[in-house]
Amino acid sequence: MNFDEIIDRRGTHSAKWDMMESLYGVSPDEGISMWVADMDFRPPACVTAELQAMVDHGVFGYFGDDAAYKASIDWWMRTRHGWTVDPDWIFTTHGLVNGTALCVHTWTQPGEGVVLFTPVYHAFARIIKAAGRTVTECPLALVDGRYEMDFEDAASRLTGNEKLVVISSPHNPGGRCWTEAELRALGEFCKAHDLILVSDEIHCDLLFPGQTHVPAIKALPDMLDRLVMMTAPTKTFNIAGAHNGNVIIPDATLRAAFGATVLGLGISPSSFGLNMETAAYSPEGAEWVDALMVYLDGNRRIFDAGVNAIPGVRSMDLESTYLAWVDFSGTGMETDEVIRRIQQDAKLAVNHGATFGLGGDSYMRFNLATPRVRIEEAVKRLQKAFADLQ
Ligand SMILES: Cc1ncc(COP(=O)(O)O)c(C=O)c1O
Repeated sequence: MNFDEIIDRRGTHSAKWDMMESLYGVSPDEGISMWVADMDFRPPACVTAELQAMVDHGVFGYFGDDAAYKASIDWWMRTRHGWTVDPDWIFTTHGLVNGTALCVHTWTQPGEGVVLFTPVYHAFARIIKAAGRTVTECPLALVDGRYEMDFEDAASRLTGNEKLVVISSPHNPGGRCWTEAELRALGEFCKAHDLILVSDEIHCDLLFPGQTHVPAIKALPDMLDRLVMMTAPTKTFNIAGAHNGNVIIPDATLRAAFGATVLGLGISPSSFGLNMETAAYSPEGAEWVDALMVYLDGNRRIFDAGVNAIPGVRSMDLESTYLAWVDFSGTGMETDEVIRRIQQDAKLAVNHGATFGLGGDSYMRFNLATPRVRIEEAVKRLQKAFADLQ
């Protein structure tokens, strides 16, 4: 576990490093990539050893007998989140964007709507719209510098055509860990408006010290007939390329409907992802995540202190995720000028807040999961790029 090691990812078909120039005009040779949510770290050794064992064996046939894989999910959820999952509730998909898309196809018809609390992970709106459904954007309220769901405002935005709500729990961006009370209030909102809740919990293990993740199924035992919960090892262990995720559905009727979609679309994830996940959900994996979060907490503190020292710039206090969410509205600058300074002057590739939907315009999202020297360098470059504000 050496999170300080610089691993050159250029030329490895890494989206983060090999697409930064085409997307953001920042060369990987002199720039720092801080956009898409994967980490510049190797996964725990137990994961790499599992892949190595597959390579050594050398036969790559179909995957079968998922008992150990499902038991590892139950072990992980029990030991990390105090919640037991029935193996029969678990479907495996090609990641959670795929999981979300399958939910949209299962429980909405073309032209029907999906509620999103924005700003939120941009792929949600993208796949909903691509499927010919509509998005009802409900902006999160900023209360004492952190996001809260505003159900009164959200209710006023509904058209009556919505069938689903998709949330990110913890929330990306902004890193909120929704509390049990907040999830229960959301449950009441879903019941009142006859909506199915899809809770995407891909960030649930990336918790900063003192934070707790509440699984939706644990918070809402009286709402299982309209609840879908999704988890994945890919963010936690930096194995996004394995591209698998779990869609967990307690209710038999919902499960039958989702199962029909999975069957109809021929969804059948690869043995690589399933074996990597089984290896990761282990005591060694747990120890690695604990060390990772201590390291990321250090990165977060350095980054926040550095950027908050720039007048008019404010990084939100993260409870979870390694994705700093930074508001530049206090600088009084146009967003184009903020982007120009970040990309052209500081040579940082970051996600633009506007892509996350209503409320995201004045924000930029910075991925902090990289060796600390890069965070220190990024802070220096930002301070220099905005030096005229001092
Ligand atoms: C909330 C959320 N869901 C899903 C994903 C991506 O999921 P996958 O790679 O499993 O498709 C991300 C990636 O950042 C995310 O933030």
